[in-house]
Amino acid sequence: MRVHVADHPLITHKLTVLRDVKTPSPVFRSLVEELMTLLAYEGTRGVRVEPVDIVTPVAPTTGVRIADPKPLIVPILRAGLGMLEGMVKLVPTAEVGFLGMARNEETLEPTTYAERLPDDLSDRQCFVLDPMLATGGSLTAAIQYLFDRGATDVTAICILAAPEGLAAVERALHGRDVTIVLGALDERLNELGYIVPGLGDAGDRLYGTV
Ligand code: URA
Repeated sequence: MRVHVADHPLITHKLTVLRDVKTPSPVFRSLVEELMTLLAYEGTRGVRVEPVDIVTPVAPTTGVRIADPKPLIVPILRAGLGMLEGMVKLVPTAEVGFLGMARNEETLEPTTYAERLPDDLSDRQCFVLDPMLATGGSLTAAIQYLFDRGATDVTAICILAAPEGLAAVERALHGRDVTIVLGALDERLNELGYIVPGLGDAGDRLYGTV
């Protein structure tokens, strides 16, 4: 598994405003979208391309285009939805699928409560969007689900992560072709499962439920 922490002053600046408890939902939403576009640039370094011949106004040349099958973007409901627009702006030809993950309160295991994906993910590059990598349970389950359906490689893009969650994903998916792209790696998880210093509940802050 590869982990890439984006190290760019623009990302850190936007993250600082995002973390601020005084930042209201509309600003928070725009910032998530902007951050996502910057992280998508980092996260798509390995996107598969194929050569294409074109003619410029001056001369014929060969460039590249995103190869088939097109990449699949999978936001994890609900907070991952806030990241979708920023990603599709950068990769408009990608397809979009959806996964809803929730914790089963009896078994405490993450379960899939909603799924809208192409049947066959053979040969697909998948990009999972989940803003907060906290315990790593739902992200691991989502990535495993995509591999089980035939995906070849998965990149997860998260705004923040806790070291405990990152280590848990690494343990569970050791040896698989997984890349994790982060806006920042924070200090720790607290006893309530929040990332510290974090930004609070990303879904609530995106959708104004605080
Ligand atoms: N999910 C969130 O939205 N925030 C956290 O800090 C942890 C998980």
